[in-house]
Amino acid sequence: MRVIVQVSEPQKMKCDLLIVPVFEGTKKFSGQAALLDKLTSGLASELLILEKLEGKLGQPAGARTDGKIAARKLMLLGAGKKPLSAAGARRLAALAAQKACSQKAKTVVILLPESAADSWPEIAAAVTEGALLGDYHFLKYKGEDLKKRSEDAVETFILLAADKRQQDILEKGVVRGRLAAQATIFARDLVNEPASVTTPTHLMNVAAKIAEAAPKRVSIKIYDETALKEMKAGGLLAVARGSDEPPYLVHLKYQPVKKAKKRLVIVGKGLTFDSGGLSLKPSEAMEDMKIDMAGAAAVLGVFSVLAEMQPAVEVHGITGLCENMPSGKAVRPGDVVTTMNGKTVEILNTDAEGRVTLADTLHYAIKLEPDYLVDLATLTGACMVALGQEVAGAMGNSKPLLGRIQAAAAASGEMLWHLPLPDEYRDLLKSRVADLKNISGTRYGGAITAGLFLEEFVGKTPWVHLDIAGPAWAEKETVPHQPVGATGFGVRTMLRLIQDI
Ligand code: BES
Ligand code: MN
Ligand code: ZN
Repeated sequence: MRVIVQVSEPQKMKCDLLIVPVFEGTKKFSGQAALLDKLTSGLASELLILEKLEGKLGQPAGARTDGKIAARKLMLLGAGKKPLSAAGARRLAALAAQKACSQKAKTVVILLPESAADSWPEIAAAVTEGALLGDYHFLKYKGEDLKKRSEDAVETFILLAADKRQQDILEKGVVRGRLAAQATIFARDLVNEPASVTTPTHLMNVAAKIAEAAPKRVSIKIYDETALKEMKAGGLLAVARGSDEPPYLVHLKYQPVKKAKKRLVIVGKGLTFDSGGLSLKPSEAMEDMKIDMAGAAAVLGVFSVLAEMQPAVEVHGITGLCENMPSGKAVRPGDVVTTMNGKTVEILNTDAEGRVTLADTLHYAIKLEPDYLVDLATLTGACMVALGQEVAGAMGNSKPLLGRIQAAAAASGEMLWHLPLPDEYRDLLKSRVADLKNISGTRYGGAITAGLFLEEFVGKTPWVHLDIAGPAWAEKETVPHQPVGATGFGVRTMLRLIQDI
């Protein structure tokens, strides 16, 4: 689907489907919609009355236009409460794209309301994101469905502008929205793939291709097993040991054209599959563990668009890629491993593996002396117990960075909530035989104790940890721009953060 902006009058737009958003409580049309109503001899108001349209978000009412206007079909689409916000626009556009697809409309035009709660570029970006993300499906392994969907797919989604000036404004938003959606879809595709495909080697190759495609702006360093041994990355190596798949530490760097004032480092947890290791998960809990690289996928998604987005910030993306498997070589409960910064960790549960790999990747990250450090990790089931499946936990040592991330998340429509890292809990990670143990002595507060563990490896660097175990995957469609499956959570918040910095 291609999203574009055109200057025209709605009655003149030749298309399969013309969508007119209707807010709650609408009794009478105004502006372009009123003109349209007049030209169709009251077709729109008739629909409003006959279909008892209340304007509830997503409620549709459609009719043929019988040649009264250039569009073949007209659809009134409930837009929720007035005025239109970016969040509302994102949902509305996702629903519009889905409805258009089910009606097999190839060319779709959407009329934007006259007033909005957010700025027009924001609305245009949100509409674009919504249309592209709502239209997303992972059908690679469902031949019949894939064929049908590609036949029915919407080809062009048009935002109508009143004049050239408005077109320019909207187009800026459309570009931003398209990049955000593209990056999110990049991450979704990687997370939806089975773990037999997205091995550490595969993801390393994906990262290498991203760098290859933008040699001027993006560079890459890849550390293989031998290099990791030299670096004394004992955490990552210990977790990887049980698997036949070799681990990698991948370091991507985006360099802006002009020398950057700020350096941001994003770290992603890259467990391509988490069986739990010798502390094996029960099979039900293991079912979804291909998603344990969603943090890494988000980093790759962000990097897939940076060269085109051209932000003025220096951005680094780091991920420790490995697989957590049980075998005769696997790390055992009771083993002690030495991480890259020299701290020793007693592994008491091999299923608390993410933090052990992050110990090394975070240490690697702080050596780059970032102004801001963020990690994205599907780290704990406990975070899902605390915040549910749709809200990420945010923890860290820097109020200003946390504030920026909260603002970026709110603008992106991604939900997160601040959890504390109290000093009082630090003792829970004390080990009798090593500097730290990898699980706490209590079953309470697991998201927080995992965060505290990570904090041991970031020193004084301003850092925020996002536990995305819940929102990385959608079990049901609770928002229309997030179909069931991988969500690409974190990508849009990170792109927004980059833009804001
Ligand atoms: N990858 C899991 C966390 C997870 C759970 C992600 C559900 C997505 C959905 C992580 O490695 C893990 O197994 N954590 C354990 C930690 C425990 C052993 C302290 C958990 O949450 O049960
Ligand atoms: Mn685990
Ligand atoms: Zn894990």
